[in-house]
Amino acid sequence: MAPLTGSNKIKTAVFISGTGSNLKSLIRFSKLKKSPIIIKMIISNNSNSKGLQYAKIYKIKKKVFNFKNILSEKKVTNELKKDNINLICLAGFMKILSKSFIKNFKGKILNIHPSLLPKYKGLNTYEKAIKNKDKYSGCTVHFVNSRLDSGKIINQKKVRINKFDTPKTLAKKILIQEHKLYPAAIMKILSL
Ligand code: GRF
Repeated sequence: MAPLTGSNKIKTAVFISGTGSNLKSLIRFSKLKKSPIIIKMIISNNSNSKGLQYAKIYKIKKKVFNFKNILSEKKVTNELKKDNINLICLAGFMKILSKSFIKNFKGKILNIHPSLLPKYKGLNTYEKAIKNKDKYSGCTVHFVNSRLDSGKIINQKKVRINKFDTPKTLAKKILIQEHKLYPAAIMKILSL
């Protein structure tokens, strides 16, 4: 099969709020010949996101919106539609999107979450796993629906918790796996 070229790859936007290490791994993945996506836009709700630096480094368009109300989300939607964005990857994006936004991009929004969903939706997943003396935690990529961290699971990776782990060390171990899991999830749902 002929590899996908720039013009027929899925136009993708990545939403971030912070460091952007998943964004960086997605950008690197998108540059591979076998990748079905091309990253056209980086969107953040926070103008101080460290991850916005990757827009400059990789020459990708960046936009900041506060996502505080429907009007702000409308502007995001217009921006995405204007550029024919067909896939949205939430990567450390700390805002909850409205039902109408999600409906507008039904089946086209993915999220990565640092736990083995359905366990530990929401925040403080590392603390919860350690406190419950779980043997494993991990990460999950899932489709986004209108209920928080509850959409259909695409893939997961388990990470062993040892007795010396703190939330910080566990987060670090899980993040390394996230960087592989997100590209694998995209390959899984989009490779022809
Ligand atoms: C990741 O652990 C992700 O699962 C969570 O927020 C973190 C973002 O990290 N939702 P980064 O900004 O991609 O480095």
